[in-house]
Amino acid sequence: MTSAAAVDLTVHVGAVRLRNPILAASGTFGYGVEFSHLVDLNRLGGLVVKGLSREPMEGAPAPRLAETPSGMLNAVGLQNIGVRAFVTEKLPVLRKYDTAIIANVFGYCVEDYLEVIRVLENAEGLAAYELNISCPNVKKGGMQFAGDPALVAEVVGAARAAAKRPLWVKLSPMVADIGLIARAAEAAGANALTVANTYPAMAVNTWTGKSCLGNQTGGLSGPAIKPITLRLVWETSRAIKTPILGVGGIETVADVLQYLAVGATAVQVGTASFTDPTVSERLVEGLEKALFTAKVFTINDIGRKVSADFG
Ligand SMILES: Cc1cc2nc3c(=O)[nH]c(=O)nc-3n(C[C@H](O)[C@H](O)[C@H](O)COP(=O)(O)O)c2cc1C
Repeated sequence: MTSAAAVDLTVHVGAVRLRNPILAASGTFGYGVEFSHLVDLNRLGGLVVKGLSREPMEGAPAPRLAETPSGMLNAVGLQNIGVRAFVTEKLPVLRKYDTAIIANVFGYCVEDYLEVIRVLENAEGLAAYELNISCPNVKKGGMQFAGDPALVAEVVGAARAAAKRPLWVKLSPMVADIGLIARAAEAAGANALTVANTYPAMAVNTWTGKSCLGNQTGGLSGPAIKPITLRLVWETSRAIKTPILGVGGIETVADVLQYLAVGATAVQVGTASFTDPTVSERLVEGLEKALFTAKVFTINDIGRKVSADFG
Protein backbone atom coordinates (compact mmCIF):
# COMPACT_ATOMS: atom_id res chain seq x y z
CA MET A 1 0.00 0.00 0.00
CA THR A 2 1.31 3.48 -0.82
CA SER A 3 1.77 6.10 1.88
CA ALA A 4 -0.81 8.31 0.13
CA ALA A 5 -3.48 5.60 0.37
CA ALA A 6 -2.61 4.62 3.94
CA VAL A 7 -2.72 7.94 5.72
CA ASP A 8 -5.57 10.38 6.27
CA LEU A 9 -4.44 14.01 6.26
CA THR A 10 -7.94 15.48 6.51
CA VAL A 11 -8.31 18.45 8.84
CA HIS A 12 -11.26 20.68 9.72
CA VAL A 13 -10.75 24.40 10.05
CA GLY A 14 -14.08 25.01 11.73
CA ALA A 15 -16.71 24.04 9.17
CA VAL A 16 -14.19 23.94 6.32
CA ARG A 17 -12.96 20.44 5.55
CA LEU A 18 -9.50 20.33 3.96
CA ARG A 19 -8.07 17.15 2.42
CA ASN A 20 -4.74 18.01 4.03
CA PRO A 21 -3.33 20.87 6.12
CA ILE A 22 -1.20 22.46 3.36
CA LEU A 23 -2.48 25.64 1.72
CA ALA A 24 -0.78 28.17 -0.53
CA ALA A 25 -0.54 31.59 1.17
CA SER A 26 -2.08 34.77 -0.21
CA GLY A 27 0.02 36.84 -2.58
CA THR A 28 2.54 34.10 -3.28
CA PHE A 29 0.42 31.87 -5.51
CA GLY A 30 -1.29 34.42 -7.80
CA TYR A 31 -4.95 33.51 -8.29
CA GLY A 32 -4.02 29.82 -8.24
CA VAL A 33 -4.72 29.27 -11.96
CA GLU A 34 -1.27 30.60 -12.91
CA PHE A 35 0.27 27.63 -11.05
CA SER A 36 -2.00 24.94 -12.51
CA HIS A 37 0.54 23.85 -15.15
CA LEU A 38 3.18 23.29 -12.43
CA VAL A 39 1.18 22.00 -9.47
CA ASP A 40 -1.73 19.55 -9.25
CA LEU A 41 -4.04 21.96 -7.45
CA ASN A 42 -6.33 19.04 -6.51
CA ARG A 43 -3.54 17.72 -4.24
CA LEU A 44 -3.46 20.84 -2.06
CA GLY A 45 -5.51 21.33 1.07
CA GLY A 46 -6.42 24.69 -0.37
CA LEU A 47 -5.16 27.94 -1.75
CA VAL A 48 -5.63 31.53 -0.66
CA VAL A 49 -5.77 33.90 -3.59
CA LYS A 50 -4.02 37.26 -3.86
CA GLY A 51 -5.69 39.97 -1.75
CA LEU A 52 -8.79 41.40 -3.43
CA SER A 53 -9.95 45.01 -3.20
CA ARG A 54 -13.17 46.64 -4.42
CA GLU A 55 -11.34 48.34 -7.32
CA PRO A 56 -8.24 47.13 -9.25
CA MET A 57 -4.94 48.38 -7.79
CA GLU A 58 -1.66 48.99 -9.61
CA GLY A 59 0.53 48.50 -6.58
CA ALA A 60 3.88 49.94 -5.52
CA PRO A 61 6.76 51.17 -7.71
CA ALA A 62 9.57 48.73 -8.66
CA PRO A 63 11.74 47.20 -7.31
CA ARG A 64 9.18 45.23 -5.33
CA LEU A 65 11.27 42.34 -4.04
CA ALA A 66 14.63 42.14 -2.30
CA GLU A 67 16.49 39.13 -0.93
CA THR A 68 17.74 39.26 2.65
CA PRO A 69 19.57 36.63 4.73
CA SER A 70 17.14 33.70 5.13
CA GLY A 71 14.29 35.89 3.98
CA MET A 72 12.67 38.12 1.44
CA LEU A 73 11.32 41.65 1.50
CA ASN A 74 8.30 42.56 -0.58
CA ALA A 75 6.47 45.77 -1.28
CA VAL A 76 3.98 44.73 -3.93
CA GLY A 77 1.50 47.29 -2.62
CA LEU A 78 -1.43 44.86 -2.79
CA GLN A 79 -1.61 45.03 -6.60
CA ASN A 80 -4.65 43.07 -7.79
CA ILE A 81 -7.23 42.91 -10.57
CA GLY A 82 -10.12 43.88 -8.28
CA VAL A 83 -12.87 41.67 -6.94
CA ARG A 84 -15.18 41.89 -9.97
CA ALA A 85 -12.51 40.79 -12.47
CA PHE A 86 -11.57 37.97 -10.08
CA VAL A 87 -15.16 36.72 -10.08
CA THR A 88 -15.59 36.90 -13.86
CA GLU A 89 -12.09 35.94 -15.08
CA LYS A 90 -10.38 33.74 -12.48
CA LEU A 91 -13.04 32.05 -10.36
CA PRO A 92 -14.79 30.20 -13.24
CA VAL A 93 -11.51 28.38 -13.96
CA LEU A 94 -10.50 27.99 -10.33
CA ARG A 95 -13.76 26.50 -9.10
CA LYS A 96 -13.29 23.48 -11.39
CA TYR A 97 -10.51 22.25 -9.11
CA ASP A 98 -11.33 20.03 -6.18
CA THR A 99 -9.57 22.10 -3.55
CA ALA A 100 -10.65 24.74 -1.04
CA ILE A 101 -10.43 28.22 -2.55
CA ILE A 102 -10.17 31.01 -0.01
CA ALA A 103 -10.61 34.64 -1.06
CA ASN A 104 -8.28 37.05 0.74
CA VAL A 105 -10.08 40.37 1.24
CA PHE A 106 -8.69 43.78 2.17
CA GLY A 107 -9.72 47.41 2.30
CA TYR A 108 -8.94 50.80 3.76
CA CYS A 109 -12.20 51.26 5.67
CA VAL A 110 -14.88 48.86 6.90
CA GLU A 111 -17.13 49.65 3.91
CA ASP A 112 -14.34 48.55 1.50
CA TYR A 113 -14.22 45.10 3.12
CA LEU A 114 -18.00 44.81 3.04
CA GLU A 115 -18.22 45.75 -0.64
CA VAL A 116 -15.66 43.06 -1.60
CA ILE A 117 -17.58 40.48 0.47
CA ARG A 118 -20.91 41.49 -1.10
CA VAL A 119 -19.52 40.86 -4.60
CA LEU A 120 -18.05 37.51 -3.54
CA GLU A 121 -21.27 36.40 -1.80
CA ASN A 122 -22.95 36.27 -5.22
CA ALA A 123 -20.24 34.00 -6.64
CA GLU A 124 -19.98 30.23 -6.35
CA GLY A 125 -16.93 28.15 -5.58
CA LEU A 126 -15.37 29.70 -2.48
CA ALA A 127 -14.79 27.80 0.76
CA ALA A 128 -14.12 30.81 3.02
CA TYR A 129 -12.96 34.41 3.23
CA GLU A 130 -9.69 35.49 4.78
CA LEU A 131 -9.67 39.11 5.98
CA ASN A 132 -6.28 40.76 5.73
CA ILE A 133 -6.50 43.32 8.53
CA SER A 134 -2.86 44.50 8.24
CA CYS A 135 -4.06 47.58 6.35
CA PRO A 136 -4.25 51.23 7.40
CA ASN A 137 -7.75 52.45 8.24
CA VAL A 138 -7.93 55.79 6.38
CA LYS A 139 -10.96 56.82 8.43
CA LYS A 140 -8.95 56.40 11.67
CA GLY A 141 -5.88 58.43 10.71
CA GLY A 142 -4.17 55.50 8.98
CA MET A 143 -4.01 53.33 12.09
CA GLN A 144 -3.80 49.63 11.22
CA PHE A 145 -6.98 47.66 11.89
CA ALA A 146 -4.88 44.78 13.21
CA GLY A 147 -3.25 46.72 16.05
CA ASP A 148 -6.34 47.81 17.93
CA PRO A 149 -8.84 45.38 19.50
CA ALA A 150 -11.75 47.82 18.98
CA LEU A 151 -10.99 48.23 15.26
CA VAL A 152 -10.54 44.45 14.92
CA ALA A 153 -13.91 43.89 16.56
CA GLU A 154 -15.53 46.47 14.29
CA VAL A 155 -14.24 45.12 10.97
CA VAL A 156 -14.61 41.44 11.90
CA GLY A 157 -18.11 41.94 13.34
CA ALA A 158 -19.26 43.81 10.23
CA ALA A 159 -17.74 41.21 7.90
CA ARG A 160 -19.26 38.36 9.92
CA ALA A 161 -22.70 39.94 9.58
CA ALA A 162 -22.25 40.42 5.82
CA ALA A 163 -20.84 36.99 4.99
CA LYS A 164 -22.58 33.63 4.86
CA ARG A 165 -19.31 31.80 4.35
CA PRO A 166 -16.75 31.01 7.07
CA LEU A 167 -14.59 33.98 7.98
CA TRP A 168 -10.87 33.61 8.64
CA VAL A 169 -9.01 36.63 10.00
CA LYS A 170 -5.34 37.11 9.21
CA LEU A 171 -3.53 38.83 12.07
CA SER A 172 -0.55 41.13 11.94
CA PRO A 173 2.52 40.02 13.89
CA MET A 174 3.22 43.66 14.84
CA VAL A 175 1.20 43.74 18.04
CA ALA A 176 2.20 43.89 21.67
CA ASP A 177 -0.23 41.16 22.78
CA ILE A 178 -1.49 38.82 20.06
CA GLY A 179 -3.75 37.06 22.57
CA LEU A 180 -5.70 40.28 23.10
CA ILE A 181 -6.20 40.78 19.36
CA ALA A 182 -7.05 37.11 18.82
CA ARG A 183 -9.72 37.23 21.53
CA ALA A 184 -11.24 40.37 19.98
CA ALA A 185 -11.42 38.65 16.57
CA GLU A 186 -12.87 35.46 18.07
CA ALA A 187 -15.50 37.37 20.06
CA ALA A 188 -16.53 39.30 16.94
CA GLY A 189 -17.21 36.04 15.08
CA ALA A 190 -13.99 34.92 13.37
CA ASN A 191 -14.19 31.22 12.47
CA ALA A 192 -10.40 30.83 12.17
CA LEU A 193 -7.31 32.96 12.61
CA THR A 194 -4.36 33.06 10.23
CA VAL A 195 -1.15 33.84 12.13
CA ALA A 196 0.53 35.83 10.72
CA ASN A 197 1.38 38.36 8.02
CA THR A 198 4.85 39.75 7.16
CA TYR A 199 7.03 41.96 9.42
CA PRO A 200 7.72 45.59 8.36
CA ALA A 201 11.42 45.82 7.47
CA MET A 202 14.01 47.46 5.24
CA ALA A 203 17.03 46.59 3.11
CA VAL A 204 19.56 49.21 2.01
CA ASN A 205 21.95 49.13 -0.94
CA THR A 206 25.37 49.80 0.63
CA TRP A 207 26.78 51.56 -2.45
CA THR A 208 23.90 53.94 -3.13
CA GLY A 209 22.72 54.28 0.45
CA LYS A 210 19.18 53.91 -0.87
CA SER A 211 16.45 51.41 -0.07
CA CYS A 212 16.38 48.25 -2.17
CA LEU A 213 12.61 48.73 -2.58
CA GLY A 214 10.70 51.36 -4.57
CA ASN A 215 8.34 51.71 -1.62
CA GLN A 216 11.31 52.23 0.79
CA THR A 217 10.02 49.68 3.32
CA GLY A 218 8.46 46.25 2.84
CA GLY A 219 7.31 43.07 4.56
CA LEU A 220 9.82 40.45 5.68
CA SER A 221 8.92 36.79 5.07
CA GLY A 222 10.65 33.41 4.72
CA PRO A 223 12.69 31.25 7.14
CA ALA A 224 13.98 34.34 8.99
CA ILE A 225 10.52 34.90 10.52
CA LYS A 226 9.65 31.29 11.39
CA PRO A 227 10.79 31.28 15.04
CA ILE A 228 8.99 34.56 15.73
CA THR A 229 5.74 33.46 14.10
CA LEU A 230 5.90 30.04 15.79
CA ARG A 231 5.82 31.85 19.12
CA LEU A 232 2.83 33.91 17.99
CA VAL A 233 0.92 30.76 16.98
CA TRP A 234 1.75 29.19 20.33
CA GLU A 235 0.54 32.29 22.21
CA THR A 236 -2.60 32.57 20.09
CA SER A 237 -3.48 28.93 20.67
CA ARG A 238 -3.35 29.51 24.43
CA ALA A 239 -5.62 32.55 24.17
CA ILE A 240 -8.49 31.22 22.03
CA LYS A 241 -10.37 28.08 20.96
CA THR A 242 -10.83 29.08 17.30
CA PRO A 243 -8.72 27.05 14.81
CA ILE A 244 -5.41 28.59 13.69
CA LEU A 245 -3.64 28.54 10.34
CA GLY A 246 0.10 29.02 10.86
CA VAL A 247 2.08 30.90 8.21
CA GLY A 248 5.67 32.08 8.26
CA GLY A 249 8.83 30.61 6.79
CA ILE A 250 7.55 27.10 6.10
CA GLU A 251 9.79 25.15 3.72
CA THR A 252 9.99 21.58 5.05
CA VAL A 253 7.83 18.85 6.57
CA ALA A 254 9.58 19.53 9.90
CA ASP A 255 8.42 23.15 9.71
CA VAL A 256 4.84 21.99 9.14
CA LEU A 257 4.98 19.57 12.09
CA GLN A 258 6.39 22.28 14.34
CA TYR A 259 3.47 24.61 13.53
CA LEU A 260 0.99 21.80 14.18
CA ALA A 261 2.75 21.02 17.46
CA VAL A 262 2.29 24.58 18.77
CA GLY A 263 -1.41 24.66 17.99
CA ALA A 264 -2.02 25.23 14.27
CA THR A 265 -4.72 23.11 12.60
CA ALA A 266 -3.33 23.83 9.13
CA VAL A 267 -0.50 25.86 7.57
CA GLN A 268 0.07 28.13 4.61
CA VAL A 269 3.19 28.21 2.47
CA GLY A 270 4.29 31.57 1.05
CA THR A 271 7.81 32.66 0.12
CA ALA A 272 9.00 29.06 -0.41
CA SER A 273 6.85 28.98 -3.58
CA PHE A 274 9.12 31.66 -5.08
CA THR A 275 12.14 29.33 -5.07
CA ASP A 276 10.14 26.18 -5.82
CA PRO A 277 6.59 26.66 -7.13
CA THR A 278 5.88 22.96 -6.49
CA VAL A 279 6.80 23.12 -2.78
CA SER A 280 3.23 22.92 -1.43
CA GLU A 281 2.48 19.74 -3.40
CA ARG A 282 5.83 18.27 -2.32
CA LEU A 283 5.00 19.05 1.31
CA VAL A 284 1.75 17.08 0.99
CA GLU A 285 3.72 14.08 -0.33
CA GLY A 286 6.37 14.54 2.36
CA LEU A 287 3.75 14.68 5.08
CA GLU A 288 2.14 11.45 3.84
CA LYS A 289 5.51 9.72 3.88
CA ALA A 290 6.42 11.12 7.31
CA LEU A 291 3.18 9.85 8.85
CA PHE A 292 3.50 6.47 7.15
CA THR A 293 7.08 6.06 8.37
CA ALA A 294 6.12 7.10 11.90
CA LYS A 295 3.20 4.62 11.75
CA VAL A 296 0.76 7.41 12.49
CA PHE A 297 -2.16 7.24 10.14
CA THR A 298 -4.13 10.40 10.79
CA ILE A 299 -2.90 13.94 10.94
CA ASN A 300 -4.72 14.47 14.23
CA ASP A 301 -2.51 11.87 15.91
CA ILE A 302 0.75 13.30 14.59
CA GLY A 303 0.40 16.42 16.77
CA ARG A 304 0.49 14.33 19.93
CA LYS A 305 3.34 12.15 18.67
CA VAL A 306 5.38 15.11 17.44
CA SER A 307 4.86 17.03 20.67
CA ALA A 308 6.19 13.99 22.53
CA ASP A 309 9.12 13.50 20.10
CA PHE A 310 10.11 17.17 20.00
CA GLY A 311 9.72 17.51 23.76
C1 LIG B 1 5.05 38.86 -2.51
C2 LIG B 1 4.09 38.67 -1.37
C3 LIG B 1 2.78 39.14 -1.49
C4 LIG B 1 1.87 38.98 -0.42
N1 LIG B 1 0.58 39.41 -0.57
C5 LIG B 1 -0.32 39.21 0.44
C6 LIG B 1 -1.69 39.59 0.29
O1 LIG B 1 -2.11 40.07 -0.77
N2 LIG B 1 -2.52 39.41 1.35
C7 LIG B 1 -2.10 38.84 2.53
O2 LIG B 1 -2.90 38.67 3.46
N3 LIG B 1 -0.80 38.42 2.69
C8 LIG B 1 0.07 38.60 1.67
N4 LIG B 1 1.39 38.18 1.83
C9 LIG B 1 1.81 37.53 3.09
C10 LIG B 1 1.87 36.01 2.96
O3 LIG B 1 0.60 35.46 2.66
C11 LIG B 1 2.42 35.37 4.26
O4 LIG B 1 1.57 35.72 5.33
C12 LIG B 1 3.84 35.83 4.61
O5 LIG B 1 4.62 35.94 3.44
C13 LIG B 1 4.55 34.89 5.60
O6 LIG B 1 4.68 33.58 5.08
P1 LIG B 1 6.03 33.03 4.34
O7 LIG B 1 7.18 33.32 5.24
O8 LIG B 1 5.78 31.56 4.11
O9 LIG B 1 6.12 33.80 3.06
C14 LIG B 1 2.30 38.33 0.77
C15 LIG B 1 3.62 37.87 0.88
C16 LIG B 1 4.51 38.02 -0.17
C17 LIG B 1 5.91 37.48 -0.02
